[in-house]
Amino acid sequence: SMRISSQMEHGEYGGVVPELASRAHLSLLLPVIDGALGDAGMTLDDVDGIAVTAGPGLVGSLLVGVSAAKGLALARDIPLIGVHHIEGHIYANMIEDPVPPFPSVVLVVSGGHTELVLMRGPLEYTMLGRTRDDAAGEAFDKIAKALNLGYPGGPVIERAAESGNPRAIRFPRAVMKDGSLDFSFSGLKTAVIMELRRRTDPLGSRDLADLASSFQEAVVDMITSRVESALKHTGAARFVVSGGVACNSRLREKLTGLAREMDVRIFLPSPSLCTDNAAMVAVTGSLYLRRGITSAYDLNAYPSEAFQPRPHTR
Ligand code: KG4
Ligand code: ZN
Repeated sequence: SMRISSQMEHGEYGGVVPELASRAHLSLLLPVIDGALGDAGMTLDDVDGIAVTAGPGLVGSLLVGVSAAKGLALARDIPLIGVHHIEGHIYANMIEDPVPPFPSVVLVVSGGHTELVLMRGPLEYTMLGRTRDDAAGEAFDKIAKALNLGYPGGPVIERAAESGNPRAIRFPRAVMKDGSLDFSFSGLKTAVIMELRRRTDPLGSRDLADLASSFQEAVVDMITSRVESALKHTGAARFVVSGGVACNSRLREKLTGLAREMDVRIFLPSPSLCTDNAAMVAVTGSLYLRRGITSAYDLNAYPSEAFQPRPHTR
């Protein structure tokens, strides 16, 4: 079973408000756990371990989750496993398609992360490239805000782009001079904002569609070309896509086309498993549990990226 509780009230502020988020976690967490157990027709007696996102993320919300997980693990005397959020996104791929996708190039495109990773085996990661400024999802969110389209930006930009011409405005596609696989979205963001400022009349629906579509195309092109380079560079025959931006239909279409052209296998989870969910954390936790790796009760919340995808061993 998988229950998701989303807090739409952040929309009116144009982004997540940390204090509102942690308070909502506090009041919603236990009913969500009860609901998920109910959906599965189980009780806590049937549970082998408690996996929880320990970081990165907003510290207040993480602390609520980690504390609740510790309480449950302690009360039931079952293992606790602190999971790295991004590792969870990666293993979302193993829920529907449980084939071990190794060695594989992994693309993580979420609201806080844009990373290319080489996975040689389970739980073995080599960083190939990451964003030097904004994350891909963050770029969608900021442009949606500039266009007064609301939050989160990805789905609203995708909808606005549907009837637009992706070639209407030629926005820049950042290429790294040193040939690295890093990403950069800030030049594109500035170009879109300059384009908006250049217009004296309010945007009509046709212009809005063209602008959204041209912006989306630039993001998708940059991501696709980096994935292509990473596949060439590593010789990997598979690639895994994860994170909220992987819901984007244009990105899914382009990456599927790339996989076909390069004759490599693509792992693309259903959209509901691309955005934040608990099933991906449970799957990652169970991988650790099977290897006997669990977290100690001094597990903390790790808001920054520094938290390595490895739970503290007991
Ligand atoms: O993975 P996720 O749910 O949460 C984080 O870990 O950040 O990703 C959320 C991000 C947001 O920035 C949102 O705008 C973006 O994913 N997103 C999309 C789409 N759906 C969600 N971006 C582009 N197109 C979409 N359809
Ligand atoms: Zn996420």
